Amino acid sequence: MAIRTVATTPFPGQRPGTSGLRKKVTAFQQPHFLENFVQSVFDMLGDATGKTLVLGGDGRFHNRSAIQVVLKMAAARGFARVLLGQGGILSTPAASCVIRKHGAMGGIILSASHNPGGPDGDFGIKYNAANGGPAPEALTEAIYERTLALAEYRISDAPDIDIDTRGEHTVDGMRVEVIDPVADYAELMAQLFDFGAIRRLFAGGFSMCFDAMHAVCGPYAHAILEGMLGAPAGTVINGVPLEDFGGLHPDPNPVNAEQLIELMAAPGAPDFGAASDGDADRNMIVGRNFPVTPSDSLAVLAANATVAPGYAGGLAGIARSMPTSRAADRVAEALGVPCYETPTGWKYFGTLLDAGKATLCGEESYGTGSRHIREKDGLWAVLYWLNLLAVRGGSVQDIVTAHWQRFGRHYYSRHDYEAISPDAARLLMQDLRIKLAYMAGQKMNHYEVQSADDFEYTDPVDSSHASQQGIRIMMTDGSRIVYRLSGTGTEGATLRVYLERYEADPAQHHLPTQQALAGLIAIADSVASIVLHTGRTNPTVIT
Ligand code: G1P
Ligand code: ZN
Repeated sequence: MAIRTVATTPFPGQRPGTSGLRKKVTAFQQPHFLENFVQSVFDMLGDATGKTLVLGGDGRFHNRSAIQVVLKMAAARGFARVLLGQGGILSTPAASCVIRKHGAMGGIILSASHNPGGPDGDFGIKYNAANGGPAPEALTEAIYERTLALAEYRISDAPDIDIDTRGEHTVDGMRVEVIDPVADYAELMAQLFDFGAIRRLFAGGFSMCFDAMHAVCGPYAHAILEGMLGAPAGTVINGVPLEDFGGLHPDPNPVNAEQLIELMAAPGAPDFGAASDGDADRNMIVGRNFPVTPSDSLAVLAANATVAPGYAGGLAGIARSMPTSRAADRVAEALGVPCYETPTGWKYFGTLLDAGKATLCGEESYGTGSRHIREKDGLWAVLYWLNLLAVRGGSVQDIVTAHWQRFGRHYYSRHDYEAISPDAARLLMQDLRIKLAYMAGQKMNHYEVQSADDFEYTDPVDSSHASQQGIRIMMTDGSRIVYRLSGTGTEGATLRVYLERYEADPAQHHLPTQQALAGLIAIADSVASIVLHTGRTNPTVIT
């Protein structure tokens, strides 16, 4: 066996987005495309001698062949060992857990998260560092610069290995350990949560439906919910990972997880519903006919954090992405701990978690997590809710409405305009930026603008700086409109409009969300001239 050096030319557009490099499968199938990116990642890392790399993916189409390529390139790069999830499977949170537990140098995760899969779907790749978290911005930029200058890559000509059989294999002298993708993760969950209490909850007849959306969480949910916690068989639906997610969009929100939402609204619905996404880092929580917004979920967990043994010591702080509602800020205030507001993307939580400044983190995009790993974690959030329900009793709705009574309600919604023209999207944002300077003090319907800006962030730990992270219009009554462009889409541009209205009065807590936000929605449309710029009269997705 030999290491081959292959001449190549750069592909433009290999800049990692909010969460790694995501493109159509067909882009990744071009000769050298994956290899170029992997070599660029490897070129930015230090000496790999004696080091371990973690490898796995969400099982989508192209995962298995990409795994073989990365293995051969890791051997050429000189890694001593690769920990590979059996069948090429590792959920994003499990990969983070394995990297940390085994002291790996880092990990490569093959995933396009919640984007659709299959031959015409999306594929993705991201590098996570030794702390288990997404590569920081400085590293992803360096990787991108490298992709633009790449002239060759190195790969072993060793044959493919059997990735389905647990145990030790070798690729050109490099050890490959094919591991159980669930075991390390399940062990960590059992340390954080009161599994005894949850087991008793299920034994008492509590019913649940977990929708794994034909994605990678299936094996984890089967093993933990039905295996370790004794939930009845059938609790997990769509639990077998499929390469194309059954043709569905594996994004756990009320639009895409329609089957679960319908079930939870039907007579005789289970007590508790939950879903996770393609790579199992997102979660949706649903009570009987009662979806919980991710922003509220973060706030509720924070307010009740100490019910779980892993958080019995309380919280050091909470962090949320800027567009996420400020429900968590109110809890932080009540607890007397700081609440950090970061740009969108889990990578910005890493330094805060590493420094022990934040214990819980969350994003409005169905992402919740904590210091236990350095990624958001879908099943973790579900177990946290189960722990809370087991300790507190009552329904999901009881818990959330009691929370609103205590803290007030943040009505919240996100409107996405998908696959719009990138030029139109840029122009819309540019126009908004120009308007920012004279927005303060303007009256808009019955709202008055308090301030408006383009969000900038200086990391309180490493002082790194991020600018142009979303345009915020803040109203005097605490309401907000935020605009930003997606960094994960693969077709044209996606405009996201985030709407938030605070309501302290419990008598006003039971309005339909879109109705409660109607005034703000109208302002958001007219200020940004959305119809004019995009030609769209309605968003494609409302969550
Ligand atoms: C989206 C979400 C963001 C999340 C990311 C990865 O990114 O909005 O909160 O961290 O996916 O799951 P966006 O497409 O908005 O850049
Ligand atoms: Zn995901």
